[in-house]
Amino acid sequence: MSPHQTRMEHEFRIAVYPGSFDPVTFGHLDIIRRSAKQFDRVIVAVLNNTVKSPLFSVQERKDLLAEVTRDLPNVEIDSFRDLLVRYMRSRQAQVIVRGIRSVTDFEYELQMASTNRQLDEGIETVFMMTNPKYSYLSSSIVKEIAKFNGPVQDLVPPAVEVALQGKYVAPSPDGTPN
Ligand code: PNS
Repeated sequence: MSPHQTRMEHEFRIAVYPGSFDPVTFGHLDIIRRSAKQFDRVIVAVLNNTVKSPLFSVQERKDLLAEVTRDLPNVEIDSFRDLLVRYMRSRQAQVIVRGIRSVTDFEYELQMASTNRQLDEGIETVFMMTNPKYSYLSSSIVKEIAKFNGPVQDLVPPAVEVALQGKYVAPSPDGTPN
């Protein structure tokens, strides 16, 4: 490097995209892909919450996330059961990524971001607007459709569709057990 050239100091930017991911949807995947372009490393962190009763175990959710992000080398899948800011510090991550679908999400997200800021001023929350294509989409909606054996192929990756079929045995149309 010549004396006239200046080396741009580049801080390695690690972002955490936390959530329940029960299961991961195309909406989540869109946020993961876009985050992977903005940060050096993106850790998708599944909350291991003993209070909620999820459809998929933490390991199943992690496996599905790993499967659908296989082509993204700077994306890592992990889980945590601590305060998010504490987990962030343990991973040397500076940024929390969250997706916002609508104004309805905004209040909850603002409350979480403000709480996290209060807990640790050094951690920044970055919001990404969900692709309008998926603005109505949520894991709960996907589970509701899958429960009634409805089509979910436009909402979740194929691996998740198969996993959902494994969770719900299709009832017959008149509701009688198969
Ligand atoms: O996908 P979700 O369920 O909306 O994700 C919520 C999540 C996991 C981001 C949030 O519940 C969380 O960060 N929990 C960890 C506990 C914590 O740090 N709480 C304080 C911030 S509100």
